[in-house]
Amino acid sequence: MELGPRGIRVNSIHPGFIETPMTASGPAAFRESNLLQIPLGRTGTPADVAPLVVFLMSDESSFISGAEIPVDGGQTAHVGAFPISQAIRGLRGPGRELDGRVAVVTGAASGIGLALAERFAAERMKVVLADVDQAQLDEAVRRLLASGAEALGVRTDVSVAADIDRLAARTVQEFGAAHVLCNNAGVDTGAPFSEIPLASWDWVFGVNFRGVLYGCRAFLPLIRAQGEEARLRWMTDNVSPPPRSGRPGI
Ligand SMILES: NC(=O)c1ccc[n+]([C@@H]2O[C@H](COP(=O)([O-])OP(=O)(O)OC[C@H]3O[C@@H](n4cnc5c(N)ncnc54)[C@H](O)[C@@H]3O)[C@@H](O)[C@H]2O)c1
Repeated sequence: MELGPRGIRVNSIHPGFIETPMTASGPAAFRESNLLQIPLGRTGTPADVAPLVVFLMSDESSFISGAEIPVDGGQTAHVGAFPISQAIRGLRGPGRELDGRVAVVTGAASGIGLALAERFAAERMKVVLADVDQAQLDEAVRRLLASGAEALGVRTDVSVAADIDRLAARTVQEFGAAHVLCNNAGVDTGAPFSEIPLASWDWVFGVNFRGVLYGCRAFLPLIRAQGEEARLRWMTDNVSPPPRSGRPGI
C-alpha cells in the first residue's frame, strides 16, 4: 500500500527444490522426498529462477504486485499456486528498460544469486555482487568482468547493518544509483527442526531475516530518492517463518 503509489512493486518468488550448493549439502533422502512431490519430475536449477526476476522487472508485469510466485515444478500446485505459466508468458517483449540499470544482488557468489547476477549482466545491467565469501565473490566478479559486464564486488555480511550501509554507499559511489535489490543471501542449517541448536537459529535469523530488513532499510530510501525511479521495481525476499530450518524465498 505504501509503495504502490510510487510505482514500486513488491513481489515474492518462492523457489522449490533448486540444485545449488545449499541443497547439495543436504541429506539425499530430503532430495528424493522432494523429487517425489514435483509433478514435472525434476528438481530446479538457478536458471529456472532468474528469468522470472527479469520478467517481474519488465513492463509486461507492471500490474503484478503483492504476488507470491512459486518456481517449483508444480510442487505446491495442490495447495493452490500462482499460475506461473501466465507470468512467464511474454517474458520477452517491448518495454524492457534494463539496459544500464543497476542491480544489487546479495549472496551473489553462488547458486541462485550468481544466476541472477549473470542474467542481469546479460541484460546489460550494471551489477553489484555482495557476498560474505570473499574468494567466491572475487571469482564471480572476475568472470563477469571478463565477459564484458560492468560488475562490482562488495564483500558483505548481510546480517551486519554497517556492511549493508557500506554496500549501498559503494553502489551509489560506483554506479550512481540502485534500481533493483535482490535480497537473495540465505542460509539453511540442513537439520530437522528439532535438532537445530539455538545458536544456529541466531545465525539463520541474522542472515534470512535481519539481512532482508537491513537491505530494505538501506536501499529503499535510495530507490525512492531517484526521481526517475517512479516506474522501477523493488524486489525483496520473502521472510516467512520456515517450516523446516529457516529458508526465505527470494
Ligand atoms: N536452493 C533452493 O532450493 C532454495 C529454495 C528456496 C529458497 N532458497 C533461497 O534462495 C537463496 C539462495 O539460495 P541458494 O540455494 O542459491 O544458496 P547458495 O548456498 O548456493 O548461495 C547462498 C549465498 O549466500 C551467501 N551468504 C551466506 N551467508 C551470507 C551472509 N551473511 N551475507 C552475505 N552473503 C551470505 C553464501 O556465501 C552463498 O554465496 C537463499 O536465500 C535460500 O534460502 C533456495
